[in-house]
Amino acid sequence: MIDAVGNPQSVLVLGGTSEIGLAIVRRFAKGGRPLRVVLAARPSPRLTEAVASLEQSGCAVETHAFSATDTGSHAEVIGKAFAGGDIDIAVVAFGLLGDAEQAWQSVDIAVELATVNYTAAVSCGVALAARFREQGHGSIVALSSVAGEQVRRSNFVYGSTKAGMDGFYLGLGEALRPSGVQVTVVRPGFVKTKMTEGMSPAPLAVTAPQVADVVADAVRNRRDLVWAPAPFRLVMMVLRHIPRAILRRLPI
Ligand SMILES: NC(=O)c1ccc[n+]([C@@H]2O[C@H](COP(=O)([O-])OP(=O)(O)OC[C@H]3O[C@@H](n4cnc5c(N)ncnc54)[C@H](OP(=O)(O)O)[C@@H]3O)[C@@H](O)[C@H]2O)c1
Repeated sequence: MIDAVGNPQSVLVLGGTSEIGLAIVRRFAKGGRPLRVVLAARPSPRLTEAVASLEQSGCAVETHAFSATDTGSHAEVIGKAFAGGDIDIAVVAFGLLGDAEQAWQSVDIAVELATVNYTAAVSCGVALAARFREQGHGSIVALSSVAGEQVRRSNFVYGSTKAGMDGFYLGLGEALRPSGVQVTVVRPGFVKTKMTEGMSPAPLAVTAPQVADVVADAVRNRRDLVWAPAPFRLVMMVLRHIPRAILRRLPI
């Protein structure tokens, strides 16, 4: 169970090598309670490294093979995570950015982005919802993006997938409210991780540990929707009201 100050005893990360996902785990591991960590991820050296580093910090780690595109396997993978005991927090962390210009001109790339970022996120959300309802408590953290709040020309395939997943998890939060299960949608801006390697940081760029602090605070306060960093909320509010004819002239 998540204690009164927001510290969980167990965390499941779908996309268990995600830098933001792992930063969230590390943030909760600092809470002082022994943490059971379940990483659902594609086997890779990155995963082996993540397991070793979390074990060194005192976490009990288990892994389950997870492929976002294999939606038929999601319920089983999530079932395995819950079979080992209660899951207090599940982080939906997998995602693909891809090359924005290739994405809208290649059917294969566009479909892969849509499958991983939207279809798989929905599939996992449905499977998580069933398990959390049975359990009767817990929290789902969905890593969305400001790119989904205002879909821009510069990366509209990615943005449109995040808009879809964002809407799904906001709705899931409403559907799960009566069962006491919390859903938090997190909209980060630019985060310096493997996903954005080689890109110039956008204004208000943050690090994965900074996103993790926002998530920890949101879980503790049972928030439905947060931005990382928090001022992005105001920036997006303004951007939403700018006419498209002006928006397309802005360098964003
Ligand atoms: N970084 C940013 O600026 C930023 C901003 C806003 C939102 N976000 C969102 O935050 C989430 C985490 O991103 P991050 O920055 O932590 O990036 P990251 O370190 O690159 O993590 C992405 C994760 O997605 C997994 N993944 C991708 N395709 C997969 C597939 N087909 N099957 C299984 N796993 C797959 C990767 O697994 P492998 O290791 O196996 O590739 C990795 O675990 C993503 O949803 C991203 O869209 C990121």
